[in-house]
This record gives sequence, structure tokens and C-alpha cells, in this order.
Amino acid sequence: MKQEILQALQWRYATYAFDTTKKVSDEDLNAVLESGRLAPSSFGFEAWKFIVVKNADVRAKLRAVGYDQPRITDASDLIIIAQRTDTEHLTDELVARTAAAQNKPVAELEMLKTMASGAVNRMPADQAKAWLKSQTYIPLGIMMETASLLNIDNAAMEGFNTEQVNEILGLSAKNLSAVTMVALGYRGEEPRPKARRTHDEVVEIIT
Ligand SMILES: Cc1cc2nc3c(=O)[nH]c(=O)nc-3n(C[C@H](O)[C@H](O)[C@H](O)COP(=O)(O)O)c2cc1C
Repeated sequence: MKQEILQALQWRYATYAFDTTKKVSDEDLNAVLESGRLAPSSFGFEAWKFIVVKNADVRAKLRAVGYDQPRITDASDLIIIAQRTDTEHLTDELVARTAAAQNKPVAELEMLKTMASGAVNRMPADQAKAWLKSQTYIPLGIMMETASLLNIDNAAMEGFNTEQVNEILGLSAKNLSAVTMVALGYRGEEPRPKARRTHDEVVEIIT
């Protein structure tokens, strides 16, 4: 198990050229999406949405505003991870979801409500936006790991014009803003060797 996880992470790389003839199965795509849905977030806000773009014309438009990265059109699947912009709704949604999951009346979750709304509302809007954006990298990482464990090549992308992606996908009207794209599929090239900092550079143990 440990070996399998580490091998999958050694195997994965930011795939540039995908094999356009190979498709990810619906079952595997759903497993990737489900692993993202199960991602944790600060307070449990889950202030994100995963948008799967199947339409080839829309993918071509996204490529045009994404530095012409071929994987935007050529990968089997493309997921856009967007952050929620309507921070004012997040606390009530969180409390309702938690009450339902724990079978408790909303009134019993006053403490959660006070803490969560205090956290999101005490920040200036720009800071709250940056905070919620940072949360979206958690499902991104989990989805990339799940894909790798399923031998699905993957590549994260931030290289695109956010406003134009939002416009193409009509995200602003849905209180969303694009943060990253994830291309999924099967490599059509030789992978690049992995360059990573050493264990000792990255890990410090304080005894
Ligand atoms: C959030 C994120 C955004 C990225 N955006 C881009 C991108 O837009 N274009 C690109 O060529 N690579 C992009 N990358 C790929 C990174 O450059 C790559 O993951 C890193 O160099 C490590 O290489 P590896 O993934 O092959 O191990 C992105 C990676 C991450 C995690």
C-alpha cells in the first residue's frame, strides 16, 4: 500500500501531451471527483465547485485563453476547480449541512455558526477571497493523487486568464471564480524526469 502510493506519485508528472485516443472511464472520472468532494476544508466550508467541461467547442475557447496549452483540448477530461465568491452564504450552508449530518437542530450549532461566520466575515473581502482560494488546492491535490493511483495522467494548470474563463463558463453569475484546471487522461509523450528538493530540505524534525 505505502509502496503503491509512493510509486504512483513518482510516476505522475505534469503531463503536457496527452494521447487523444485514450479516454478515462466514467467510473474512474467519478472516483477522482468523489475524492475531491471528500476533501477537508477550513471549518468545512467546501467553498468550491468542480466543473467538468465535456464540450469540445468550450474546451477550444478555454485553450485560447489558457496560453494555448494543448492539454486543455487534448486530455480526455478537463475539470475546472472554482472558488465560491458569495462568502455571505457559506456559514448558513455549513450549519445546515452539519445539522443534517449530525441529526441536530440548527439551534445546537450556535457555536459553529459564530466561529465560522466570525472567521469569514472578520477578514477584508480580498483576504477572504485569498483564503477560500487557498482551500481549493486541497481537493486539487487529492484529485491529482487519486488520478495517479488509478494510473491516470494529470496536470494542474493556473496558466489562464481568470476573467475570460469565468466569462466563457458563465461562472460569475453562479458566484464562482475559476482557480485551477486539471487535465486528466493518458500520456502521449515520454515523461520529464522529476526534480524535487531532498527529504532533508523539505522535512525538519524537532526532537
Ligand atoms: C497549481 C498548479 C498549477 C500549475 N499550472 C501550470 C500551468 O499553467 N502550465 C504548466 O505548464 N504547468 C503548470 N503546473 C505544473 C508544474 O510546473 C509542475 O507540477 C511542477 O513543475 C512539478 O513537476 P511535475 O508535476 O512534473 O512533478 C502547475 C502545477 C500546479 C500544482
